[in-house]
Amino acid sequence: MTTSIPPLAGQFQLQDYENTRETFRWEDVHTQFNWYSTGNVNMAHECVDRHVENGKGDRIALRFLADDGRETTTTYAQLKEETDHLATVLAHRGVQEGDFVFVFLPKEPSVYVAMLAAIKLGAVVAPLFEAFMEDGVRDRMNDCEGKYLITNEAFYKRVPRGELPALSHVFLTDGKKTNEAEGIFSLPSELAAGERDPHILRWVSLDSGLNIHYTSGSTGKPKGIVHAHRVMIQQYQTGKWVLDLREDDVYWCTAHPGWVTGTVYGVFAPLLHGVEIVIVSGRFTAEGWYQALEKTGVTVWYSAPTAFRMLMAQGAELTNQFDLSSLRHIMSVGEPLNPEVIYWGQKAFNLRIHDTWWMTETGAQLVANLPSQPIKPGSMGRAIPGITVAVLDDEGNELPRGEIGHLAVQAPWPALMKEVWRNEEKFQSYFPFEGWYVSGDLARQDDDGYVFFQGRSDDMINSSGERIGPFEVESTLISHPAVAEAGVIGKPDPVRGEIVKAFLVLRNGYEESESLKEELYRYVKTHLAGHAAPREIQIVSSLPKTKISGKILRRELKRLELEKLSLQR
Ligand code: WT7
Repeated sequence: MTTSIPPLAGQFQLQDYENTRETFRWEDVHTQFNWYSTGNVNMAHECVDRHVENGKGDRIALRFLADDGRETTTTYAQLKEETDHLATVLAHRGVQEGDFVFVFLPKEPSVYVAMLAAIKLGAVVAPLFEAFMEDGVRDRMNDCEGKYLITNEAFYKRVPRGELPALSHVFLTDGKKTNEAEGIFSLPSELAAGERDPHILRWVSLDSGLNIHYTSGSTGKPKGIVHAHRVMIQQYQTGKWVLDLREDDVYWCTAHPGWVTGTVYGVFAPLLHGVEIVIVSGRFTAEGWYQALEKTGVTVWYSAPTAFRMLMAQGAELTNQFDLSSLRHIMSVGEPLNPEVIYWGQKAFNLRIHDTWWMTETGAQLVANLPSQPIKPGSMGRAIPGITVAVLDDEGNELPRGEIGHLAVQAPWPALMKEVWRNEEKFQSYFPFEGWYVSGDLARQDDDGYVFFQGRSDDMINSSGERIGPFEVESTLISHPAVAEAGVIGKPDPVRGEIVKAFLVLRNGYEESESLKEELYRYVKTHLAGHAAPREIQIVSSLPKTKISGKILRRELKRLELEKLSLQR
């Protein structure tokens, strides 16, 4: 039995968990929003314009640290102007309520401005992860027939325009010239030529589409998870209870908006609370991250276990070189947070690392360790007030405490997805038992209601907190001339949680070699995305398959792999 870690001294935004659980209703949160009194709904208004109207325009919204050391700030008033201006240009070029607007940009203020401008028009914003290559971009954009794309010259090279029949308008943040015939629009020239309509924002309804995130499961291509403006109710409230945000916080979420964490807790929740957001571009380096924390005086920090493990691996000597005393609250998401990492965090920062659990589909945090409550290392925490979770057996019966089963959530809740784009069957598949959303995660709950993650019930891969569908990787692999068949699994890894491992049957005429493996790794990296490329490849003469349908049995590959690992220990 591990002992629990008591909360630090202090007052937090949610002090009394038990009582709040009893009395809280989601309707209580509605009064926080402008629409409660006006009836006018738009996420971008609540995130930006409202703060300006309330006299907070001079506060810093975005503080950007570029890789070259450059630092820029954007106030809430400037953010309103910039998003109004871009929205005016987009509207002039035809973007309307309900249209999909893809945003493919690096982690810079431009990605925030682009997303919010699209939302101002009532469009459904589709942020793409910055590492995607042609296959990743194509499958996502074609699924919802994206007509509009905001990107830059460098990223545009990874957009296979010829394979995107619906794409009619490409807006380049650093484009030199507009070429209408080719559907290329230079934002610098469009912005310079066009006026800015300060009243461009369109009112929508709470159930109107807000954003779409493509996410991987164990089968098929990625699915488009659509969220509605009503998510703000839960995103605001978790920003308060779980992120514990106060007005003067400096907040850093390390995820790119192409992942749901980067959108929900990188853009929406902090802006709803009017805090200062730190944006750090470039690749992870332990030193760079510590510098960012120190330089910007981050107070609240949301990151992922892989990043913490990488920092931990650098040792205390490096940590001690930095003044991290402004930090007051740390959270983690996306993959299991090992107890060792929590103990390291206590030494390195004098703070607890608070694990949180949710999914793209759930739209906001559901289970979390709250700053005012004890942490049981190894547990993701308890259901937040307003949310009921349970562990179910295969028939949908609640299991007694302590037993492992399907982690399920009583549906609905405010941030639950609106739909899976053009896939009602997939949407329904999350609700196999009346009244319950079934997550696909396996878990157990203890007598106090703390939830302990036990793995996935399907073949989804989680590497560094990034969700990878084996099917997508297999599809890219078998498009290579050397590969006849592919089975892809997640192999346990001490730093990344899991790495992508591929078992391949080669076509006649191809021989196993290190250079071929290297080539296949690169092939996936350049066609799909670096994070999805198999770090380990094993050539086999055949793959285990189901007798009837001949489907590749990934579970069997995984079982053999785990067996091999345990023999090595
Ligand atoms: C899957 C969802 C939106 C959060 C970021 C990932 C895994 C998420 C935890 C956690 C262990 C976790 C689950 C979940 N996961 N949080 N605290 N401990 N596993 O969102 O890409 O939609 O992935 O990530 O398996 O189902 P996502």
